[in-house]
Amino acid sequence: MQIRLENICKCFDGVPVLENINMHLHKGKIICIVGPSGCGKSTFLNLLSRLDLPDNGTIQMDASTKTAYVFQEDRLLPWESVYDNIRFVKNAEDSRQILSLIEDVGLKGYEKHLPDQLSGGMRQRCSIARAFYYGSDLLLMDEPFKSLDFNLRFEMIEKLLLLWEKSQCAIVFVTHEIDEALLLGDEILVFSKRPAHVLESLEIKTPQRERKLGDPHLLSLRAKIVENILR
Ligand SMILES: Nc1ncnc2c1ncn2[C@@H]1O[C@H](COP(=O)(O)OP(=O)(O)OP(=O)(O)O)[C@@H](O)[C@H]1O
Ligand SMILES: [Mg+2]
Repeated sequence: MQIRLENICKCFDGVPVLENINMHLHKGKIICIVGPSGCGKSTFLNLLSRLDLPDNGTIQMDASTKTAYVFQEDRLLPWESVYDNIRFVKNAEDSRQILSLIEDVGLKGYEKHLPDQLSGGMRQRCSIARAFYYGSDLLLMDEPFKSLDFNLRFEMIEKLLLLWEKSQCAIVFVTHEIDEALLLGDEILVFSKRPAHVLESLEIKTPQRERKLGDPHLLSLRAKIVENILR
């Protein structure tokens, strides 16, 4: 599985939002995107998901690429339980897998709860379980851990890595948290203010499991990202 984006441009009502974005993604690779609010990160994911089309540039991707999308909002069905919100994305029901995913995201005991009876972070975790139940070659995640506290955030990073290792999907992960990007990304793209272009592309070769936020290499990358964001 390969995805190649070249010179992607997108405008809304004549206002440029994305400008000449290039990206290369393959099976098992995680790309994290950081950048200011409103610069075009969700727009970029919408283009990758094929929910929207670029005005210019090319997206090379096999038509058979199966894509799952964890939206910035959880988009659960309010009248369905946690279990049924996950189940509904596939025709065949695999209750063992659903229950195991519910446990993986820390929602054991909440299978029958409706979205209204959950916190924002719990709803977000339900939508992550749903994405993995659907199964995909390409997983798009738009600030999936934004409603989680500091500890839960790191727990979810561990869980995401576990699910990713099992599935070997490619992931594009948008976040405002630089630490999340440092722990997850094989590559980090720093987007500029709108119209977004890539200010910096940083590669991290250390396997995700071996990374510690205090490592000098990660600390220097962190400083570089901050410098770029504040530019
Ligand atoms: N469908 C649309 N029609 C018109 N303008 C849009 C549309 N979608 C997004 N925009 C504009 O494009 C810009 C980028 O929006 P986008 O949601 O991609 O930003 P973002 O980087 O995801 O921001 P945040 O970090 O706050 O989620 C914004 O100025 C927004 O108003
Ligand atoms: Mg967004």
